[in-house]
Amino acid sequence: MRQLAILGASGHGKVVADCAELCGWSSISFFDDAWPDKTSNGAWSIAGDSRSLLRRLSEFDGVLVAIGNNQIRSAKLQELVEGGARVPVLIHPSAVVSRYVEIGAGSVLFAGAVVNVDCHIGTGAIINTAASIDHDCRLGNAVHISPGARLAGGVRVGDRSWVGIGASVKQLVEIGADVTVGAGAAVISNIPDDCLAIGVPARIR
Ligand SMILES: CC(C)(COP(=O)(O)OP(=O)(O)OC[C@H]1O[C@@H](n2cnc3c(N)ncnc32)[C@H](O)[C@@H]1OP(=O)(O)O)[C@@H](O)C(=O)NCCC(=O)NCCS
Repeated sequence: MRQLAILGASGHGKVVADCAELCGWSSISFFDDAWPDKTSNGAWSIAGDSRSLLRRLSEFDGVLVAIGNNQIRSAKLQELVEGGARVPVLIHPSAVVSRYVEIGAGSVLFAGAVVNVDCHIGTGAIINTAASIDHDCRLGNAVHISPGARLAGGVRVGDRSWVGIGASVKQLVEIGADVTVGAGAAVISNIPDDCLAIGVPARIR
């Protein structure tokens, strides 16, 4: 029996658990600091808080962090890796992923996601439902590409940046680190680090 622990008993966590079952993980336990007040997350039980997960790492064949906030997910993943966690990559069976792609530990690719040839995705990334990442894109660690967002070829997205639902990014555009791209934005020129870009075409706020 392959045992998976998921840190973060959120709605996103339920999607990770559901995807994990489809990927063959047979036993799934959540951990969340809302425990013991909260004891379940949808169909799955919460077994303890984040400190108890760190103590119990050796019991699990894999550990994932399902926290939507990119900064927090990145920090928690690093803590777990330093504690010796084994961290898998999760790819939904309906995702279409080129064999010529590199994906870092702890990244999750959900239903209908497409990742084309020669892309590089860092650790702890979320490639959400039906997001499309075209050829030669380079995504940093702990990025989140939201449902239905589309990156054209050769796009770069820096560490911990979030591309909102339904946003589109023109080919070869470079988005910095810690950026938020708003829902539905059309990004047609480079975006520097640590800012918010919204609208069509996207403007920095
Ligand atoms: C961009 C975003 C982060 C801003 O959130 P916020 O700081 O709470 O912003 P507010 O809702 O207070 O809106 C502030 C202003 O920005 C505008 N605005 C907000 N989001 C916008 C968007 N995506 N596109 C265009 N304008 C937007 C609002 O209309 C408002 O305008 P006003 O000042 O003229 O009234 C958020 O609206 C967004 O798009 N998040 C992405 C959601 C997403 O992708 N979810 C998927 C999760 S899997």
